[in-house]
Amino acid sequence: MSEVRRYHAGLVFLHWLMALMISVALFMGSTALESMANSDPAKVGALRGHMTVGLLIGVLLVSRLITRLSTQHPPHATTGMVWADRLAPLAHWALYGLVALMVASGIGMALAFDLPAVVFQGQGVLPEDFHVAPARLVHGVVAKLLMLTIVAHVVAALFHQLVRKDRLLSRMGFGSRR
Ligand code: HEM
Ligand code: HEM
Repeated sequence: MSEVRRYHAGLVFLHWLMALMISVALFMGSTALESMANSDPAKVGALRGHMTVGLLIGVLLVSRLITRLSTQHPPHATTGMVWADRLAPLAHWALYGLVALMVASGIGMALAFDLPAVVFQGQGVLPEDFHVAPARLVHGVVAKLLMLTIVAHVVAALFHQLVRKDRLLSRMGFGSRR
């Protein structure tokens, strides 16, 4: 089989859709949600939105992994720096892993506090504070690690595109793959 120039169109679509959804979940989570007391009447509505987007990200992540493992992808790009070339695939799998951990710890919190009933069925009340659950700690720490990895990922993509001028972004774009 000859080499392809771009990722599969399904993967490209999922990459950009999920980049948007993950950025929104990270931003809204660490600003609006984090600073809102659980006694605030608007909290249940905010959690409804956050949990819906978070669970959808989980479903999309599974379909993305299946697409990634079952389709051809371009050969590894090169930066001219051995350490950076070795780091790139690790960083990519770390992004998948960190997003999976966000979804898993979110579900962990939901189960610990019976959130599906409170948030989607209007039964029961929110706990005073989510921080008593270990899953809340994991969710908060992994959120910061994910933000840092995304920043590094974007800097690396821009380095390729603007400094190496190797048109890396087109590999994550639509168009003919041969
Ligand atoms: C915000 C959340 C983002 C996440 C979670 C994310 C995740 C990923 C992952 C996991 C891959 C590896 C694809 C694979 O091999 O399966 C990838 C590739 C890529 N991403 Fe992102 N990405 C994000 C945002 C961005 C942004 C904003 C840009 C543009 C500046 C970008 C540009 C790229 C490019 C060009 C590739 C292809 C790299 C290559 O060909 O080796 N990503 N991304
Ligand atoms: C990739 C998916 C997700 C991302 C990026 C995300 C992001 C975040 C962030 C950034 C925070 C604030 C953390 C902090 O600043 O310490 C947060 C809080 C929270 N998230 Fe998520 N989340 C995701 C999925 C989920 C899911 C699936 C659920 C539940 C089913 C969930 C439930 C919660 C809850 C209950 C809080 C606590 C809010 C509070 O302390 O007041 N999250 N999330």
